Amino acid sequence: MPELIAKLQTEHDLTDAELLNFLTEPQPEDILFAAADAERRRYYGDAVYLRGLIEFTNYCKNNCYYCGIRAGNPCAERYRLTDEQILACCKEGYSLGYRTFVLQGGEDPYYTDEKICALVSAIAMQHPDCRITLSIGEKSRDSYQRYYDAGARRFLLRHETASPEHYRKLHPESMSLENRKRCLFDLKAIGYQVGSGFMIGSPYQTPETLLSDIRFLQELCPAMIGVGPYITHRETPFAEMPPGELHFSLRIVALLRLMFPKALIPATTAFASLHAEGRELALRAGANVVMPNLSPVTVRKHYDLYENKVCLGDEAAHCRGCMERRIASAGYRAVVAVGDSLV
Ligand code: 5AD
Ligand code: FES
Repeated sequence: MPELIAKLQTEHDLTDAELLNFLTEPQPEDILFAAADAERRRYYGDAVYLRGLIEFTNYCKNNCYYCGIRAGNPCAERYRLTDEQILACCKEGYSLGYRTFVLQGGEDPYYTDEKICALVSAIAMQHPDCRITLSIGEKSRDSYQRYYDAGARRFLLRHETASPEHYRKLHPESMSLENRKRCLFDLKAIGYQVGSGFMIGSPYQTPETLLSDIRFLQELCPAMIGVGPYITHRETPFAEMPPGELHFSLRIVALLRLMFPKALIPATTAFASLHAEGRELALRAGANVVMPNLSPVTVRKHYDLYENKVCLGDEAAHCRGCMERRIASAGYRAVVAVGDSLV
């Protein structure tokens, strides 16, 4: 058994030099993925948690250079779901068995704190046995507190990169790593189960920036770690940049599972978009969550963070069955329970 994998299995950590070595020298995937799989089974067995994802607005005031729904993309066709549409998505999701709803959107000023709180309260009232997750970007601590008080319990906000120089290359001046981190620590302090993470193979990423991502995650101790390959979008300033590499991305998932054995790690849509069986491969490399789309089919194609996004034409019920089959084919069991993280 290669030394680094053995050390990861026993110590769940490596020195900086060892991590850089791991990131630059491909490890034998069969051994690595088997080690990651053993670790996930130790805490979570064969369960793969399903979360219903509702992409409720693709308006965004930000201009991240990698993202297709950036404010500066005039080709993006913008939409917002009404409260009624969102509640209808939850209702349908509930009848399909989902007990966690993830409301994800761009940073859309139309959704004032009052509107978000009203929405969260309405969902909490209609589905008291469900968890509500928000993924709506950077806000003040006071705003995060208000959403919590309204009933939200989880928040997803990827840090994107923990290197300030790299952050600068991915985002315009108006955004800062400092504020991103402030948000994440505020969310934790309020009591949210926090999800963070980063893209793999994003432009200008290096083994050193990845090392800082891992060290940052160790400091944050998130309940969930979301990663996926960077996928080029032609209507962005990074139109010419190559996408992330599938196998390198899978090895990062396995590394994260070995370093954060109790974390929830989603097999993200970006994996599925890069390879027909990308999600299954990510599950077998250590991921244990999937987030099928509950958004109305009519708006799906407009939430295009990156190209070739999958499941654009599939009704929620279809996705539910499809996911179940995919999870089973990878050797695991789909679970719709609330599924809190063990972190
Ligand atoms: N490729 C892959 N992931 C992307 N995201 C945004 N744009 C892209 C892209 N081009 C990711 C970011 C963001 C999450 C919602 O989607 O990491 O946090
Ligand atoms: Fe949506 Fe497969 S998960 S169609």
